[in-house]
Amino acid sequence: MELQGQCFKLREWRSGDAAALQKHADNTNIFDFLFDRFPSPYTTEAAETFINSKLAQDPMCNFVIEIEGELAGVIGVDFREDIYRKSPLLGYWISEMYWGRGIMPQAVKLVVAYAFSNFDIVRIQASVNGNNNRSMRVLEKAGFVKEGILKSNIIKNGIILDEHVYGIVK
Ligand SMILES: CC(C)(COP(=O)(O)OP(=O)(O)OC[C@H]1O[C@@H](n2cnc3c(N)ncnc32)[C@H](O)[C@@H]1OP(=O)(O)O)[C@@H](O)C(=O)NCCC(=O)NCCS
Repeated sequence: MELQGQCFKLREWRSGDAAALQKHADNTNIFDFLFDRFPSPYTTEAAETFINSKLAQDPMCNFVIEIEGELAGVIGVDFREDIYRKSPLLGYWISEMYWGRGIMPQAVKLVVAYAFSNFDIVRIQASVNGNNNRSMRVLEKAGFVKEGILKSNIIKNGIILDEHVYGIVK
């Protein structure tokens, strides 16, 4: 299963992705905007553990962003339980080598269309740290609406931040 973008594709995980995942993910400029569970430093072992958790996805909801034949980032939706089961969370990052080329807004649009077509969901949500203007632009360019700001809801690198909640409804 692949989703084709203009200069990239979204594809399934392969065990051979570990070296590229470790290389591109081991960057504090990426870690600084993600959950603390994102490894930093990002070791080969961490890459292998993550990939092993994604090799047999059913349904497929987490994609490698491949550019010029190599993993360059990750995008996916995480399903939630209970009353939130029709509203998964979107997450993504791309190697700093490729920032500013408009790749992620395209990737977000592809995943949103895929998820609305293939899953019994009504909405996709994304939460952005208050200091992450790049990611807010990505979501706005992909058609998400800023629905609210949760004041001082995040601590990252010892700094308290607002959380900006974005959504797109089917
Ligand atoms: C946020 C992120 C996904 C953006 O992806 P991208 O493919 O570079 O997105 P775009 O090319 O559309 O750039 C987004 C905006 O940031 C700006 N931007 C990109 N690179 C930049 C840079 N190095 N410095 C300043 N601004 C930059 C772009 O100009 C664009 O704004 P514009 O549309 O007003 O021109 C990427 O920077 C990233 O992976 N960041 C770290 C992880 C992260 O933040 N994940 C999201 C968590 S919610």
